[in-house]
Amino acid sequence: MEASDFGERFFWGASTSAYQIEGACNEDGKDPNIWDDFTKKKSKIKNGENANHAADFYHNYEEDLLNLKEMGFKHFRFSISWSRILPQGIGEINEKGLAFYQRVINKCLELEIEPWITLYHWDLPSALQEKGGWANRKIIDWFDEFAHLCLACFGDRVKYWMLLNEPIVFTGAGYLLGLHAPGLKSIPAFLKAAHHANLCMALSLKSLKSKYPKHKFGTTVSLTQIDPINQLPWNVYAAKRIDKILNYLFLYPMMGKGYPVLSFKRFSLLKKYMKAGDLEHMVCNFDFIGAQIYTRQKVKFGLFSPFLNARLVEAPIRGVRHNALGWEVKPQVIYNWIKKLHQLGIKNIMITENGYADNLEPNAAELPIEDDERIRYHNLHLRQVLRAKKDGFPVKGYFVWSLIDNFEWAEGYSARFGIVAVDFKNFRRTIKKSGFWWRDFLLGTA
Ligand code: BGC
Repeated sequence: MEASDFGERFFWGASTSAYQIEGACNEDGKDPNIWDDFTKKKSKIKNGENANHAADFYHNYEEDLLNLKEMGFKHFRFSISWSRILPQGIGEINEKGLAFYQRVINKCLELEIEPWITLYHWDLPSALQEKGGWANRKIIDWFDEFAHLCLACFGDRVKYWMLLNEPIVFTGAGYLLGLHAPGLKSIPAFLKAAHHANLCMALSLKSLKSKYPKHKFGTTVSLTQIDPINQLPWNVYAAKRIDKILNYLFLYPMMGKGYPVLSFKRFSLLKKYMKAGDLEHMVCNFDFIGAQIYTRQKVKFGLFSPFLNARLVEAPIRGVRHNALGWEVKPQVIYNWIKKLHQLGIKNIMITENGYADNLEPNAAELPIEDDERIRYHNLHLRQVLRAKKDGFPVKGYFVWSLIDNFEWAEGYSARFGIVAVDFKNFRRTIKKSGFWWRDFLLGTA
């Protein structure tokens, strides 16, 4: 397998997100966001860690972009910290915040790297959370203001945009399970947040597209293959249910198929938050869909989880190969999902995240980390992407998660996804063996 097998126009990139890498949490006029607040709460993050400094991308972006270039990538995905440019979420603009992203974008262009911007990667300004955050329908206007500001400031140099990152994760983990910011455990808040996220994507897409018809807009969804632990009817039922919630709560409405969960007990509450016309408004046509695919989960019926009715049977218990977070390594999943998206009618599929977590720390000698499992992971997944492409499915690009080791949300710094290592004590960067593997693959220097 060679990079050229994917064709001249295939997009090769690496992904990141603002909160996970930037640091500089209160520098140059940035106000707090929900993750700044959440990481202050007790026992929410492994080892009590926070991302006040994260990987200090704020001061090291030039080196990171140079490494990206050296490894042969032509595309860089990053997100905008909302409260860095609009400290209160709406209203007053922070020029210094804008200037930072101008520097990042200009550096990309200087290095002939195409910048791809995710507008929202989970770090809502605290000021907006105080007003209910995603559970407040006004989020549709707040987000639209933020999105238009970004397009007005960066749109002359940035063509590719993603509106939301994995809405099921920030609404589910953030409003239902209490595992992510803002840490709520509320069924009504979750359903409201999910509905507003659906509306927000579709309505902002329409208003952005009418003003910027030549730009390319997408959004990203996390996709997991869900299989029952065995064929017992109640486990099959649990798997189908979880599949609809995790994978289709956002995909179906935008494709005009409505909510796939309305018949589920307690999900019918959603209807209460839907206004006349909402179902039609949620239908939209993104230029591309960012698919973020990591793993397969097996589930069984869970009597004690009345809302979800299902429990995960983790990969380590099943005795199958897994990463440092216990996620099964199952490369066929990426092929299966590309095929399903194609069958759903999606015309441009971009793999905007795929990667492997380990816990190998940088060594004092600054030698490349021997992350052979990560190389194996990317290699096997790429083979499946190529297979999907050869079968005629419209997969147009692949972005590694992640360019650098970073703050892995509730897991803190214990799980490392980077192809470049970061020493979090001094922010020194070292390209890992996997980074050199990518360089050889992309530049054909092997
Ligand atoms: C998210 C990233 C995260 C990665 C690994 C995705 O769900 O977009 O922010 O670090 O998965 O967990």
